[in-house]
Amino acid sequence: MKTNLFKLAVITVFALTVTALTGFKMTPTSVLAMQEDTATVYKTKCGSCHGQKAEKAYDPEKAMTEQVEIIMKGKRAEKPPNMPGYEAKGMTTEQATALAEYMKQLRTAPPK
Ligand code: HEC
Repeated sequence: MKTNLFKLAVITVFALTVTALTGFKMTPTSVLAMQEDTATVYKTKCGSCHGQKAEKAYDPEKAMTEQVEIIMKGKRAEKPPNMPGYEAKGMTTEQATALAEYMKQLRTAPPK
């Protein structure tokens, strides 16, 4: 009986540690690194400046490579706020490409 209680205690401590570690990893920067759903990333990180329909400070005609470059490296606007560089925040080129395509789609074929 005593051994079972001991085992239970060990398991509980282990489970709590895992929960604490996973919770700790959920910082804003690593959420980006975690291949999160593109629409959610757009809504939470980009929508505040670009609008929910990518209607602000965005030209869908701009070449995809250039858009990805701007997302990764950032761009100084004529007046603030500037476009932040997301490479430094842990974004991959794949995520930046997905976001650029998502923005383009918001403008050219908005979901009904
Ligand atoms: C703090 C405000 C801000 C945030 C947040 C922001 N942007 Fe921007 N972004 C800008 C501004 C301002 C520009 C335009 C810079 C210029 O050319 O004057 C820009 C430009 C761009 C461009 C190039 C468009 C063009 O026509 O030149 C893309 C693509 C882009 N942003 C994508 C994103 C994505 C994706 C995110 C989120 C991961 C994001 N932006 C978050 C402000 C922001």
